[in-house]
Amino acid sequence: MGARKVALFALTQIGCTPLATSKFGTDGKPCVKSINKAAMLFNHKFKPLVDQLNANNEDALFTFINITSILYPQGGLCIHMT
Ligand SMILES: *[C@@H]1O[C@H](CO)[C@@H](O)[C@H](O)[C@H]1NC(C)=O
Repeated sequence: MGARKVALFALTQIGCTPLATSKFGTDGKPCVKSINKAAMLFNHKFKPLVDQLNANNEDALFTFINITSILYPQGGLCIHMT
């Protein structure tokens, strides 16, 4: 589409959403740990993919946005509570 700057958003703590907690249960915890772990796994594979996009497209800029570090600057609210 001619875009030269693209922001790519990583997943956040999706195991803490009402849908996830009501569907899978949390055993008294605020979040579904397995879903948050899967989101982190996705993010850690997603970041090198963004680097690869930048390497392969010199006329465009792809920016990896880590939503978790924006929402939870202290290091991840739900990571400690799962
Ligand atoms: C995103 O930020 C969180 C919190 O600072 C950090 O724990 C996590 O490793 C970061 N994820 C990536 C893919 O850099």
